[in-house]
Amino acid sequence: MIQLHDKQFVPFISAKEIDFALATMASQVEADFADETPIFIGVLNGSFMVVSDFMKHYKSPCEVSFIKLASYEGTSSTDQVKQLIGLNEDLTGRSVVVIEDIVDTGNTLAELKDLFKRQNVKHFKIATLFFKPEAYKKDIKIDYIGIRIPNKFIVGFGLDYDGLGRNLPEVYQLK
Ligand code: IMP
Ligand code: MG
Repeated sequence: MIQLHDKQFVPFISAKEIDFALATMASQVEADFADETPIFIGVLNGSFMVVSDFMKHYKSPCEVSFIKLASYEGTSSTDQVKQLIGLNEDLTGRSVVVIEDIVDTGNTLAELKDLFKRQNVKHFKIATLFFKPEAYKKDIKIDYIGIRIPNKFIVGFGLDYDGLGRNLPEVYQLK
């Protein structure tokens, strides 16, 4: 058990399971983009570890960039998603795969989809390591899903509770 701020968390998903899910996702993406050089867009802060480990399993030509948005305060998703920071690349004609740490309500995803609509990309795909089907409120298709989890708050592997827990190499859930 671990303590972050006022809350206690118990082990939930091992580093091995996470790595297996990322390897599987990488080979799925690789099969779909065999003849091109996709650009992976990580959504900061949460996805830094996901993108890093995903890319180590991706053996074909690829590029990476990061953007930032924010929607979360404490342990429940707020309904407001802020603006995009840091997309400097020209994505015209590119195959873009957005890599998320977790999709919860889908608000962030909807916002991202909207923002990328104006970029004239060739393909726009969404990949997420974790997905909470019970919390999902949108009907946007998620192209690659690593691990489906119940509607519980988790930390670790890049995911935080008010800033803490991102460094944990495995995932914990709220006790
Ligand atoms: P959504 O907009 O509700 O889908 O939330 C997406 C964002 O909320 C993710 O990118 C995370 O940053 C954060 N988030 C959602 N669920 C969790 C969780 O269980 N633990 C930590 N952060 C979460
Ligand atoms: Mg995030």
